[in-house]
Amino acid sequence: PYRSAPPRMLRARAAGWTLLLCALLGRSPGLPTAVNITWSSINFKTILRWQPKPSDYFYTVEILGQTSNTQRKCIQTTETECDVTDVLRNVRETYTAHILSVTSSRMDNFEQPPYAVSENFTPYNQTILGKPEIQNYTQKDSKMSIVFKDPLTPYMFPNGSFQSVRDIFKNDLEYKLYYWKDQSSGKKDATTKSNKFEINVESTKNYCFYIQGIIPSRSKSRTGQESMVLCTKYGTEVFIILAAVAVAVLALAIALPVILCKRKRAKLAREKQPLNGP
Ligand SMILES: *[C@@H]1O[C@H](CO)[C@@H](O)[C@H](O)[C@H]1NC(C)=O
Ligand SMILES: *[C@@H]1O[C@H](CO)[C@@H](O)[C@H](O)[C@H]1NC(C)=O
Ligand SMILES: *[C@@H]1O[C@H](CO)[C@@H](O)[C@H](O)[C@H]1NC(C)=O
Ligand SMILES: *[C@@H]1O[C@H](CO)[C@@H](O)[C@H](O)[C@H]1NC(C)=O
Repeated sequence: PYRSAPPRMLRARAAGWTLLLCALLGRSPGLPTAVNITWSSINFKTILRWQPKPSDYFYTVEILGQTSNTQRKCIQTTETECDVTDVLRNVRETYTAHILSVTSSRMDNFEQPPYAVSENFTPYNQTILGKPEIQNYTQKDSKMSIVFKDPLTPYMFPNGSFQSVRDIFKNDLEYKLYYWKDQSSGKKDATTKSNKFEINVESTKNYCFYIQGIIPSRSKSRTGQESMVLCTKYGTEVFIILAAVAVAVLALAIALPVILCKRKRAKLAREKQPLNGP
């Protein structure tokens, strides 16, 4: 009569199959692989992030380019992020990351650890332009001029100075200025390929503005982060003058009756003693 195999034997058989399957796939069983892998990159500083937090294993990141050799970063990390900026130097190249799940004991093993694959990332097309830094702005009569700096990247020239986003994007980089009369909502804009805006404004109004980098040739992530909003203070001078006038008027308003009263009293006093006069 047919009798099923004892449970221990079944378990052994199942384990055997699992091992065989793993050997065929070249994976070690058990370790979770990374999910929700994201690239976040601003001014070419690029961080790879993923989940979940590892409990009793580690992650190692491999960066694969089209022409460069595979490079390892954040070897056996317990973090869920990795700064990969320095291995993405060929900014026009398209990279992929493999996030390996490893245990330390398995490091010398020949087996390929399980891994997750990121989406492709091309720094030149995908890094986000950071905020431009405004150095100087003035409003003189009807001319407003604004001077600002290109954001810097983490990459250096051979002489040790940092490359700016303009050093990399060159003619692909523009800046947009948005400006409006203080207290009003109608925005105007202007565009430049230099580091200066000079625009005509109404000379008796305050203006507020911000600046944003733009890469018009991109189809995605064209606009960068917005600079802080700043406002011209044309009105302060006028305000100070008005305040001074107001103070003068007020002083006069108080002083005048006093003076007049004194004069009147003096006059009355004089009229009361006409005989004593010379
Ligand atoms: C991955 O992201 C989704 C959606 O944001 C979230 O629901 C899920 O919990 C994340 N996975 C892990 C392992 O954190
Ligand atoms: C600021 O702008 C004014 C007028 O445009 C210019 O004379 C001055 O040199 C600028 N200062 C700096 C630090 O750029
Ligand atoms: C470094 O080299 C770059 C490009 O050759 C140049 O623009 C920059 O002014 C140099 N910086 C210094 C501090 O010499
Ligand atoms: C990067 O952007 C340029 C210009 O938009 C485009 O021609 C090129 O195909 C893009 N490269 C990738 C890998 O998406």
